[in-house]
Amino acid sequence: PVRALIFDLDGVLTDTAEGHYQAWQRLADELGVPFDRERNEALKGIDRMGSLERILAGSGKMLTAAEKLEAASRKNGYYQDLIARFTPEDLFEGVRDLLLSARQAGLKLGVASASRNAPALLTRLGIIDLFDHVADAGAIPNPKPAPDIFLSVARALDVPAPLCLGIEDSMAGITAIRQAGMPAVGIGDPAILTEADAVIGHIRDFRLDRFVRPA
Ligand code: G6P
Ligand code: MG
Repeated sequence: PVRALIFDLDGVLTDTAEGHYQAWQRLADELGVPFDRERNEALKGIDRMGSLERILAGSGKMLTAAEKLEAASRKNGYYQDLIARFTPEDLFEGVRDLLLSARQAGLKLGVASASRNAPALLTRLGIIDLFDHVADAGAIPNPKPAPDIFLSVARALDVPAPLCLGIEDSMAGITAIRQAGMPAVGIGDPAILTEADAVIGHIRDFRLDRFVRPA
């Protein structure tokens, strides 16, 4: 039986996947490198510098290390402007009720987000206190698709990996969950999230009685 739920944040609990996309698109346009929604799909779940490296990779554009740092922080500024006014209203429908009923059912709850903005965002969304542990993205050695972040949350929750259920909207994240030896629920398109054990269109369709068998 599942004893813990480990959630990704961006694109799972709130609509920040769109904000990340818009901020990258603006930066890419400024740098004059090709970018679009399809390319963005592969960036979901990928950390900030890793995303920039991927955007630059096929473009022929070369940046120095200092220019890369500047570009990454410029993107983060655009992103932070987009989420500055987030409130509990910006939670996806059903999230708060899901977290409350999961806690009531005795499940441990964790967040495994690659975003350095995650703790501030969870605070703004008014749900940080509902989690037993929020990963510190800056302290995780290998980023998604490596399993490290999910394993580190499982360890902090003191629940063996196979008894944790991971919930993700990104390809990299689903791979990370499966590499960690956890079952994975994808949020999004089953044609994209092919490695997930189950895929639902939206977090509001997450049913505890479907995914968490009673002990
Ligand atoms: C999440 C998002 C990615 C983002 C990453 C780092 O994984 O899905 O799109 O690049 O977090 O976010 P940050 O807020 O640290 O730039
Ligand atoms: Mg995500």
